[in-house]
Amino acid sequence: MATSNKFWKPGGSRPSGQVELERAKQGSEGAGSCMTFNTHLHLPISQQRQRLPIARYREQILYLVEKYRTVVIVGETGSGKTTQIPQYLHEANWTGNGYIVAVTQPRRIAVTTVASRVADERGVVLGHEVGYSIRFDDCTDSKGTRIKFLTDGMLTREMMWDPLLLKYSVVMLDEAHERNINTDIVIGLLKKIMKKRDDFHLIISSATLDAELFKSYFETNTDRADPRKDTAVIMTIEGRAFDIDIHHTKLPVADYVKSTVDTALAIHREEPTGDILAFLTGQEEVETAVKLLKEHAERVTKGLQLLPLPLYGGLPYSEQIQVFQRTPPNSRKVIVSTNIAETSVTINGIVYVIDCGFVKLKAFSPQTSLESLVIVPISQSSALQRSGRAGRVRSGKVYRLYTEESYRALDVTTVPEVQRSSMAPVVLQLKALGIDNVLRFNYLSPPPAESLLQGLELLYALGALDDEGKLTNPLGMQMAEFPLNPMFARMLLLSESFGCSEEILTITAMLQVNHAFHQPTRQKANASQAKRKFCVYEGDHLTLLNVYNAFIRYNQDPRWCQQNFIHYKSLCHAVSIREQLKRLLHRFKIKLVSCHDDPIPIQKCIVSGFFVHAARLHYTGTCYKTIRGNHTLHIHPSSILFEERSPQWVVFNEVLQTSSLFMRDVTVVDPEWLYQLAPHFYQYGTEREIAESKKQKLEDLPVIT
Ligand code: CDP
Ligand code: MG
Repeated sequence: MATSNKFWKPGGSRPSGQVELERAKQGSEGAGSCMTFNTHLHLPISQQRQRLPIARYREQILYLVEKYRTVVIVGETGSGKTTQIPQYLHEANWTGNGYIVAVTQPRRIAVTTVASRVADERGVVLGHEVGYSIRFDDCTDSKGTRIKFLTDGMLTREMMWDPLLLKYSVVMLDEAHERNINTDIVIGLLKKIMKKRDDFHLIISSATLDAELFKSYFETNTDRADPRKDTAVIMTIEGRAFDIDIHHTKLPVADYVKSTVDTALAIHREEPTGDILAFLTGQEEVETAVKLLKEHAERVTKGLQLLPLPLYGGLPYSEQIQVFQRTPPNSRKVIVSTNIAETSVTINGIVYVIDCGFVKLKAFSPQTSLESLVIVPISQSSALQRSGRAGRVRSGKVYRLYTEESYRALDVTTVPEVQRSSMAPVVLQLKALGIDNVLRFNYLSPPPAESLLQGLELLYALGALDDEGKLTNPLGMQMAEFPLNPMFARMLLLSESFGCSEEILTITAMLQVNHAFHQPTRQKANASQAKRKFCVYEGDHLTLLNVYNAFIRYNQDPRWCQQNFIHYKSLCHAVSIREQLKRLLHRFKIKLVSCHDDPIPIQKCIVSGFFVHAARLHYTGTCYKTIRGNHTLHIHPSSILFEERSPQWVVFNEVLQTSSLFMRDVTVVDPEWLYQLAPHFYQYGTEREIAESKKQKLEDLPVIT
C-alpha cells in the first residue's frame, strides 16, 4: 500500500495540502500491489476478480482453511476478503453435500450490497445460489443457496432452531473488528460449536483486527511448545488495490459539520472528478450538511454538478441504496453518511473521503438502566476503515478533520459494544440457547458484572425469567424469539391482554422506522402545522398511531403524504414491518384486537414494556428525573411533548446524549400504572412519591381527547 500523510487547512482553497510538512509511508507495502492504472472498472468482472490482491492468496487460503479449524485473516480494505473468500470456498466444494458457506456482516446494508455484488460476479440471480438474510428480509432459497450473507444477529437467531449450525460447513465472521454485541455473542457461541463439531471451520476476517486476541481465543492446542498442533492460524494479505493519500489538518477544527461542508466544496472546486464520502455522527448532522451542500449546489451551475446524498440507518432502504447508483454524467456525488458506511461497503466512484473523527456510540449505565447514544472520538481502527472506503476502485484521497497528533492519541480500537450496553437482550438470547450461567459464559471480552446483573434483574422484572433465573414459558421464550428488544417484545406479547394488539403492532412498526415526519427547512412552519394535525396530548406513540391510520385511510397515497409532510417511504416500510410482526404474533397465537378510540389501554400496554424507562417532572419544571436512579433527563425537541405543557409522569423508548440526556418517543402515563404493572420494580422508594403525586396527578394530567 502506498499512503501518505499531509497537513492541510480544512476549507482552504487547496485540499491537497497548502502546508505540506511530511510525506510518510504508512502501513505495509504489498509487493507489486499498487496498480499503475487508475481504475479497472472497465474490465470484465472475471478479470477484476483476478486483479484483486487476494487472488494471489487463493490456494493458501484454501489450504489453511482445510488444515486449521480457525483462520484469522487480516487484509487491507479492498483486497477482496468479503467478496472473494466465500467464492473460493464454494469453488473448492465447501458447499458440496448441501452445505452452505455463511458470511456475517455487522450491518444490514453491508449484507445486501455485498450479496448482490457476489451474485453479479457469479452471474446469478440474487436469492438463489447467492442469498442473504437480514431482520425482516430473507432472500435465500432453502435448497439452492450455497453462499449466504447475513448479519451476525441473524446467525445467533438461527442457532435457536439449529444450535450446532448444521447446515454450514464454514462460517466467515467478517469485519470482526467492529465487535458489536452480536459479533461477540456469535464468537462465544461458535467456540461452543467448534468443540462439538469437528467438521466445522471458522474464518475471522477484517482489515484492522487484533488477530492475536482472536487466535488465542479459538486456539485449542495447549502445548505451547509445539505449534504444529495449533488449530488456529493467522494469515496476512498484503496489498491494497490502489493508493490512498491521507491528509490531516494542521490545527483542530472547531465545527466539524461546517468543516466537512467546506472541505467537500474545496474538493469540488479544486480536485479532478470523483465522488466524495463524508463521515458524520448522526442523522441530524448528516441532514444539516446535505442541506448546506444542496444550497451551494444550486449556486454552482457551471462545470460538475454537485449531488449531495444522505446515508444513515433510519433512512428508508430504497433511499439508502440510491448512494450506490451510478453517478450521472457531469456530476459529483457527495455522500454524507454516519458510520454505517464505515465497514464493508464499496461505493463505486468514491475517490475522496472526509472523516470528521467522531462517532455516535452506545453507552450504558447499569445504575440507571439507561442506554444512551453519545458522540465520542473514533478509534484508530475506525479511522483506517473510513480511509479504506477510498481507493477501492481507483486511487483516493482522505481528509481527516483532525491533526496527526490527535490521530496518534486516539484509542487503537473501539471498546467492544458488549462492554458498554444493556445486557438484557444478550442474557435473554443466551438463556434461550440453553446457556444458564450467563456470568460464566466464555466472552471474548467479558462485560461488566453489574451490567449482567442489571440484565438479569430487568428480565426478571419483565417476567422473562423466573425466581431461579430460568426462562419463563411462554412469555420468556417468546420474548427471546422476537427480533426486537425485550421491552418491545413484552409490550407486543401482552398487547392482546390489554385489548390493543392492533394499535401496539402499528406503534411498534412505526418506531422501527423512526423517520415519519418530513421537516424541510424552508417550509418549517407548514410542516409543523401539518404535524400538529396528528398530535395528541398522550405523546409520541399515539401520534405515530394517528399518522399510520391516516396513511391507511388515505389508501397509502404518496400525494397525501407530500401534502402532510409525511415520509411516504418510511410509512411503506412501516406497513411491511407491521405485516411481519403480525405474522409473528399469529405464530404465538396472539389475537388482534382493537381498543378503538380509547387511548388508556395503549398507554398501559406501553408502560408494561417500558416501565423501566419512567421519569417524573422535576419540581422546578425544567427537567425530568428517572424514577430509578434519579437521573436528569429532558424531552427531545423532536418529541411532540416538547412544546406542550410538560406532563408530570412519562415513559420513553430511548435516550440520546448530546448537550444533555434527551428522552425520545415519549408517552404520558399515570404513575399508578407503574406500580400496578411493575410492582416488583417500583415497590421500593417510589411508593411514597406515587402516593404524593396522586392528588396532583388528577389535576395535572392532560385531558385525553
Ligand atoms: O472485504 P474487502 O475490503 O477486502 O474487499 P471486498 O469488499 O471483497 O471488495 C474487493 C473489491 O471488489 C473492491 O475493492 C472493489 O473493487 C470491488 N467491489 C465492487 O466493485 N463493488 C462492490 N459492491 C464490492 C466490491
Ligand atoms: Mg470486507
